[in-house]
Amino acid sequence: MAIRTEPTTAPSVALAQAARQALHAPSVLNTQPWRWRIAGDTLELWADPERQLDVVDSAHRLLTVSCGAALHHALVALAGQGYRTRVDRLADPEHPFKLATIRLDGRLDPTAADRDLLAAMSKRRTDRRAFTDETVPAAHLRQLTEVARRNGSGLHLVRFDQIPMLAVATAQAAEAELADPAYRSELGRWTSRPAEAGDGVPHSVAVQQGPRRIPVRDHALGGPAGLEIGADHDGGASFALLYGPTDTPDGWLRGGEALSAVLLTAVTLGLSTAPVSDPIEVPWPRALTRGLLTEGGEPYLVLRIGYGHGPEHLPPAPRRRFEDVIEWWTGA
Ligand SMILES: Cc1cc2nc3c(=O)[nH]c(=O)nc-3n(C[C@H](O)[C@H](O)[C@H](O)COP(=O)(O)O)c2cc1C
Repeated sequence: MAIRTEPTTAPSVALAQAARQALHAPSVLNTQPWRWRIAGDTLELWADPERQLDVVDSAHRLLTVSCGAALHHALVALAGQGYRTRVDRLADPEHPFKLATIRLDGRLDPTAADRDLLAAMSKRRTDRRAFTDETVPAAHLRQLTEVARRNGSGLHLVRFDQIPMLAVATAQAAEAELADPAYRSELGRWTSRPAEAGDGVPHSVAVQQGPRRIPVRDHALGGPAGLEIGADHDGGASFALLYGPTDTPDGWLRGGEALSAVLLTAVTLGLSTAPVSDPIEVPWPRALTRGLLTEGGEPYLVLRIGYGHGPEHLPPAPRRRFEDVIEWWTGA
């Protein structure tokens, strides 16, 4: 039988700290669908199928992307603590929910960039309000694209002439979902979670509905939402498609890692961001979205990137208790 014990060695304390920091990661409907297991000097990332969204995400695509974001957060936290790491991804066919194993691989002084990404984790928020007319400099967009590439995925910058198709795909996905009682029920459950659960999207971070260049999910299902759209119209916002070579768990996991890298880098550049997954959740809007990828590939997520009014004016989304996502094992 497995024995549970608290960490005592410096490496396992660092791994626990990384798992704790990874709670800052973004996740679909803030489900935080992961568990961490510290086994010796390794940190295992497990998907939590009980937190899967059966209607929105029956394929586990967005769940796995979310777990990939948590994985990258943990790696950033370890780099920030001066640890070099090695990662095995999806290496155990008998346990498909075991997504990754992180091994410590010696010490390395954190760079300024490591420290910046670490600091960005607690500052980042999904900002559903409209962004301003200030356009994102091309150099910033190039940097975000390069960051996604270095992390194993692509970032397609949606061209101006492609925006109408993306808007149609997103609106059609939202309309199809809102007409489905099972979707409304699932969304309702994840937007009215008890405070002690520390998850879900409460009304305080949902945005009021109104005309948008690309529609934003109606988390409040027509009811009151805590955030006003604001006076802006996303005039300067850029839209990007996060994509990878395959529509498979490996692609989704790496996509999540790239997502985290892009979002954290955006914070360091003073940019606001908001993921949009409605057009990925419904098959034919996903096909329309795939058609925008002139370079080929499978779309994992849409990102809105721009200048907002600062995360300090946004309430943080809740997070689960660390004790609920971690376990320590010294035997099996
Ligand atoms: C895979 C994925 C899909 C998401 N889809 C949407 C979406 O369609 N609409 C939205 O407003 N936010 C979306 N989000 C943002 C999450 O709702 C958000 O990360 C979560 O509520 C936690 O809040 P935070 O990002 O402010 O920490 C998505 C995030 C991820 C990782």
